[in-house]
Amino acid sequence: MNVCIYPNAELAAAAAAILIAGQVIDKPRSVLGLATGSTPLPIYRELIAMARRGALDLRQVTTYNLDEYMGLGPDHPCSYRRFMWENLFSQVDIPAGNIHIPDGLARDPAEECRRYDAAIAAAGQLDLQLLGIGANGHIGFNEPAERFTTHSYCVALSAQTLRDNRRFFEEGAPMPTHALTMGIGSIMQAKRIVLVATGAGKAQAVRGMIEGPVDPMLPASILQMHRHATVLLDAAAASALTVR
Ligand code: F6R
Repeated sequence: MNVCIYPNAELAAAAAAILIAGQVIDKPRSVLGLATGSTPLPIYRELIAMARRGALDLRQVTTYNLDEYMGLGPDHPCSYRRFMWENLFSQVDIPAGNIHIPDGLARDPAEECRRYDAAIAAAGQLDLQLLGIGANGHIGFNEPAERFTTHSYCVALSAQTLRDNRRFFEEGAPMPTHALTMGIGSIMQAKRIVLVATGAGKAQAVRGMIEGPVDPMLPASILQMHRHATVLLDAAAASALTVR
C-alpha cells in the first residue's frame, strides 16, 4: 500500500486526477471503476477541466460505478446514476454505452449483481478503481461485517451510513435502506486501486485501514493485501496515523 499525504484536499484530488489521467493516457481503452460521494467531486472537476483543454481524451474509456441505491431510478435526484451524470458524464465525452451503473430498480437484485460482475469480467476487469472511504471504514457499500464480501450483492446500509448520507437527501424525504454494491472481492480484482480520503472525519478509519489488522469490521483494511493500492490523503485524514 503506497500512502501519500498532501497538505489539503485540493492537492489530494489533483493527485488522484493525475493518476486517473495517466492510466487513460497509457491505455485509452481503460476500464475505470468510479465512486460517488463528496470526495470524488474535485477529482471529477479536474478530469473535466483536463478533457476541456484537450489534455485528456475519455472517448474510449469504459466505466463501472461501485454502487447504487435500491429503489432509486436514473431520474431520482439522489440516485448515483443522476449524480454521475451531473458531476461527470454530462461534461465529458464518454459514450453513453460505455457507462455502467448497477440498476437500482432491478426486479431481481441478485441477478442484477451477477450480471454486473460478469460484465466487468467480460470487460477484462477494472484497470483502475477509484474509492472513497466511509467514516466506518466501508468501501463501496461494504459495511463492517463478520466476513469480507466476495461478489456484488444487495446490502442493508448500516445506521452510520444512513446517518452520514442523509445530507444528500431532502429533509424528511424517505431514504433507501438498501443498495447494490460491488463486493470486496469484485473491488480487489481491480488491477490498480486509488483510494482518496479527506477531512478529519475519516482520520480514524484511515488509521485502521493503514495501521490496523486486516479486519472485516474495517472493510478498507483489505487494501493492505492489494498489490497495487495507492492511498491519497489530506493532512486532516492523515492526522491519526502514528507513522508519517
Ligand atoms: C460511493 C461509495 C462510498 C463513498 C464513501 C465516502 O460510491 O461507494 O464508499 O466513497 O461513503 O463518501 P464521501 O466521499 O461522501 O465521504
